[in-house]
Amino acid sequence: MDLSGKTVVITGAGRGLGAAFALSLAPLGCNLILCGRREADLAAVARSVLSHGGKSAQTVALDLADAASVTEAVARIATFQAPVDILINNGAMWLEASQAPYAEAEVMAVVNAAITGTFLLVQGLRPLMQLSDAPDILTIGSISGLPNAALQTVSVPFYAAKRGQVALAEGLRQEFRGGKFRSILVNPPYLDEAMPGGQSWAANGTRAKNMRATSRDVVEASIFALTRPHHISLTIELGADEGGLFPS
Ligand SMILES: NC(=O)c1ccc[n+]([C@@H]2O[C@H](COP(=O)([O-])OP(=O)(O)OC[C@H]3O[C@@H](n4cnc5c(N)ncnc54)[C@H](OP(=O)(O)O)[C@@H]3O)[C@@H](O)[C@H]2O)c1
Repeated sequence: MDLSGKTVVITGAGRGLGAAFALSLAPLGCNLILCGRREADLAAVARSVLSHGGKSAQTVALDLADAASVTEAVARIATFQAPVDILINNGAMWLEASQAPYAEAEVMAVVNAAITGTFLLVQGLRPLMQLSDAPDILTIGSISGLPNAALQTVSVPFYAAKRGQVALAEGLRQEFRGGKFRSILVNPPYLDEAMPGGQSWAANGTRAKNMRATSRDVVEASIFALTRPHHISLTIELGADEGGLFPS
């Protein structure tokens, strides 16, 4: 299956894994809609996409922890008047484990971004995705979202939020069975950042056995899943010697 000409919405696209998705999908001929909280970061990624031969990159302000912002983002995406083929639910707020009490706002934001905002975005974009021949919702969960995963350095609110996000993708997969939508779930381990065009991305072939996974592993696993025949909906758990589900 070819991703050329697909319109792809990416959340959390201003940096990290979301930006790596944008720079990887652009050369495959995708039209990108980059969503996130920081417009300057999104604009920088959009410029990079176009300078790497990408066809188009729109930017849309989106705070997944704020339902009103999700509604506004959906309305703005609707003005582009194109079917949305792929939604990549990548944005989620990270919260490290701490001995000190977490701020209320942080706990609300972690849970709301991963679960409430992600679900409302899926729901809001469904009419635009219905216009696609083969709509895909790809959710980036985490190994922390798997039952009985080791907590490692993750806070309990993040752990619970990621479990909820995993459940969301799994629930959608059941709901979509037999229809034209597909839900794909990719659960990364702890990652080292890599960006297309950068050294760590290119160093893929020389990585040692005991290293962490990188953003490239997640992007390539996701593209593999997206290019399977449309009745195949994969859940991919990425293992790694370092930072994986079973810490040393
Ligand atoms: N990095 C890892 O080790 C790792 C491991 C397992 C799973 N993951 C998952 O992979 C995805 C991407 O993470 P990452 O590796 O790029 O690192 P990250 O530091 O966890 O980045 C989180 C991404 O989500 C965005 N985000 C956070 N809160 C948001 C909100 N309220 N609304 C919209 N966007 C929001 C961030 O954008 P801004 O903060 O710039 O707005 C950033 O792009 C996340 O779902 C993360 O949980 C990452």
